[in-house]
Amino acid sequence: MLKSLFDGSGKKPDMTVYVNGAETPAWEGETVAGLMLRLPEAGRASTVGGDPRLPYCQMGVCFECLAIVDGVASRQGCLVPVRQGMRIDSQHGKRETTYDL
Ligand code: FES
Repeated sequence: MLKSLFDGSGKKPDMTVYVNGAETPAWEGETVAGLMLRLPEAGRASTVGGDPRLPYCQMGVCFECLAIVDGVASRQGCLVPVRQGMRIDSQHGKRETTYDL
């Protein structure tokens, strides 16, 4: 498991975010994907086999970091910096759409 540069550094958290409803400390400069690596339970399950998935590439290529951020599904967590009060929820299954394809 990767260890965040922020977590355990002794630096006081810059903000609080909510991960699956739980208050979670976060630091300026951290991404949603980085936070997911600190909290593996925030990851998602594969839509194919249900296997646990966590962020991998950290640069917008693998899509293993998909999460629901402030109610918007399929956000690539590695491209989204955390901010005060952000709500991050694990994504399960495919993204729901509000229109017919
Ligand atoms: S970690 Fe690969 S796309 Fe986000």
